Amino acid sequence: MALEKTLVILKPDAVARRLAGRIISRFEDKGFSIAALKYMKIDAALADKHYAEHKEKPFFPSLTKFITSGPVIVLALEGVDAVPVIRKMVGATNGRAAEPGSIRGDFGMSRGFNLIHASDSPESAERELNLFFKPEDFIHSGDQAGLSWNYEWTNGKPD
Ligand code: RTP
Ligand code: MG
Repeated sequence: MALEKTLVILKPDAVARRLAGRIISRFEDKGFSIAALKYMKIDAALADKHYAEHKEKPFFPSLTKFITSGPVIVLALEGVDAVPVIRKMVGATNGRAAEPGSIRGDFGMSRGFNLIHASDSPESAERELNLFFKPEDFIHSGDQAGLSWNYEWTNGKPD
């Protein structure tokens, strides 16, 4: 249980299909805060770094071609257990297998064009947040003012 940040990317298909607002709304509705946000195109060098763990996989060329193909929206989202909670909201990699109610389950039918990326562990989140954001980009961080009813607070700790 920890107040933590995770990296979310609304991939080129989500932006092109004009789903960005609806997807971001889900995270706000759930109780996450936007700590940083960027509208950008990912270049080949950044795509290689971001997806370094998949470098040797057969799908690596198509994955990096896709993620660099158009504008994306990159967010740092903050909340208690942000990494596992957001992975659950995102759903399984393949939209056809993803649970209804998850983002991929509700909006997608594809394995490759699967709308959204979310960090898969606190270590990945740390690494990926550093790839996309500088410390001064986190203009909202640790502000508990808006969260008084999103969590039960005991001794100043959210649960
Ligand atoms: P992501 O990293 O984008 O959040 O997705 P993920 O954790 O659910 O899936 P991961 O295993 O990390 O794979 C990264 C992206 O590569 C594409 N992929 N293609 N053809 C294939 O077998 C295959 N497997 C994965 C997907 O677009 C996936 O999001
Ligand atoms: Mg992944």
